[in-house]
Amino acid sequence: MRIVLVGPPGAGKGTQAAFLAENLSIPHISTGDLFRANISRQTELGKLAKSYMDAGNLVPDEVTIAMAKDRMEQPDAQGGFLLDGFPRNVQQAVALDEMLKAEGMKLDAILDLEVPEDEVVKRIAGRRVCRNDSAHVFHVSYKPAKQDGVCDICGGELYQRDDDSEETVRKRLEVYHTQTEPIIDYYKAQGLVVTISALGKVDEVTARAMQVLDQRTGDK
Ligand code: AP5
Ligand code: MG
Repeated sequence: MRIVLVGPPGAGKGTQAAFLAENLSIPHISTGDLFRANISRQTELGKLAKSYMDAGNLVPDEVTIAMAKDRMEQPDAQGGFLLDGFPRNVQQAVALDEMLKAEGMKLDAILDLEVPEDEVVKRIAGRRVCRNDSAHVFHVSYKPAKQDGVCDICGGELYQRDDDSEETVRKRLEVYHTQTEPIIDYYKAQGLVVTISALGKVDEVTARAMQVLDQRTGDK
């Protein structure tokens, strides 16, 4: 299956992607996590991406599309993938369509996670991620680590993402509404969008997501 997860910052895309990718046996590809891994390794791409991320803006399409393409071409992604944070504007969606078309492939579903803004703000304010791998995500109240400040999965240090400050979150939400939300209409025109509420416990949201995805593949 080839799935795109879409939803505002803090909706729970990364959290859900970890479970969905495991259930569906496909890799979880997060452009945000790929950029953060480059920042940790202090690569040129990381240095460039950080300046945009810290301001809450999108990293330029050219580098983002090249990075996503490179990841999607890896052997583990040949049977499908779950994209988280890509595409993030209509230009990226068009580029993804062209990329897949060239390989005779297409997307199966866009899973749109709906969450009210006040909940998103609470989720981001308490989020802590692991220095070793920002896909290891915790929350001070909703999903506390067993030992304060230490990742349950790998023992890495937990920290608050640099772009999770109140001011940057406000900017990221604005960018989501103006640049990312239009991809939902773009994909609606292709009949690909399934929308679910991302409110409730993490496992309840996963169950809701699996149900709509099963239904979609069963419909085919
Ligand atoms: P990215 O890393 O993709 O950030 P984002 O889209 O803003 O989303 P988040 O990672 O903040 O939230 P999430 O939905 O994954 O929520 P999470 O699961 O962590 O992108 C960061 C930046 O990179 C961008 O601003 C941009 O600069 C750049 N970038 C990335 N992709 C790009 C692209 N394609 N083009 C250009 N630039 C790009 O959950 C949040 C918190 O809530 C956690 O603490 C979690 O434990 C908790 N939580 C989750 N679910 C629940 C629940 N059901 N109940 C209670 N708590 C929950
Ligand atoms: Mg995320």
